Amino acid sequence: MYNSGGGQELSIRSLTVFNQHRVTIMEATSKDTRGSFAAKKTPATPKGLLNIAVRAARAAGEIINRNFEDRDHITVQEKAKDDLVTNVDRECENAIRSVISRYYPEHGILAEESGYSKNSGDSDYLWVIDPLDGTSNFCKGIPHVAVSIGVKIKGITSVGVVYDPIRNELFTATKGEGAILNNRKIRVSGIKGLDTGIFATAFPHRNREHLDRYQKILARVFSRCADIRRAGTASLDLAYVAAGRMDGYFELCLKPWDFCAGDLLVREAGGVVTDFDGKPDYAQNGNIVAANPYAIQNLLREIKAAC
Ligand code: IPD
Ligand code: CA
Ligand code: CA
Repeated sequence: MYNSGGGQELSIRSLTVFNQHRVTIMEATSKDTRGSFAAKKTPATPKGLLNIAVRAARAAGEIINRNFEDRDHITVQEKAKDDLVTNVDRECENAIRSVISRYYPEHGILAEESGYSKNSGDSDYLWVIDPLDGTSNFCKGIPHVAVSIGVKIKGITSVGVVYDPIRNELFTATKGEGAILNNRKIRVSGIKGLDTGIFATAFPHRNREHLDRYQKILARVFSRCADIRRAGTASLDLAYVAAGRMDGYFELCLKPWDFCAGDLLVREAGGVVTDFDGKPDYAQNGNIVAANPYAIQNLLREIKAAC
């Protein structure tokens, strides 16, 4: 245990060596010893932001794990057709917001369940939060969910955290410094053609007007690759591409909180993220294709040919 001098106890959770890169993640894991005054001293550097993002993600992860085994008391509402929210989504979001506002009260927040914070237009910093990604999985007891937190500085995603609390897998990325899974640097896979690739995707279940187009794309990609997975948690789909577990990913109509953190993970792991036209407009249209720089060319070619 280490006391930073600012009243905040930090424990060094990890120190490892990977490909001659020493990777140290210092997480703020214990209570502030001088309350909110100490908390506000955390600098808004990428490293400071990452520490707080991890702290917030772990707080939400604890709530998810506590509720996952005992889901009888969970209340589920349908926000829109095929779009669920539970009391656990809201509890996680409150926990994340409260960690962020304790350390960075002046920062803006965009969170799935509560939208933009009042000050979000005035701040250079925007925290983009999906408190529980994979709510349908959660409701069914499928153990594949995540907490996703990205931080934008002047509109540029600079920090990303995707945390799978059930497997205790923490994916993190800081702009220009690579992507890490639980202390180890990760890289996208090295496949070039699609034939040996396994790709993640999702059906447009909330946007069924796109089903015809999507089915054509799916058929085309499936006929060229080894297999396809639909696992139900967009942020983990992207994190798995970053870790080389999936060779690529494509999904239509995502929201900023689904992909903000995962987008940075993929790019920091050496991958490329585009929209379905190969353009960088996915932040506007929510249509995401992600893969390594070779495979994405082949993936985009099949998508184009299908449309
Ligand atoms: C959804 C999941 C799902 C994806 C949807 C998302 P939610 O998020 O990530 O995998 O296909 O597009 O909206 O509603 O569970 O947070
Ligand atoms: Ca989501
Ligand atoms: Ca969600």
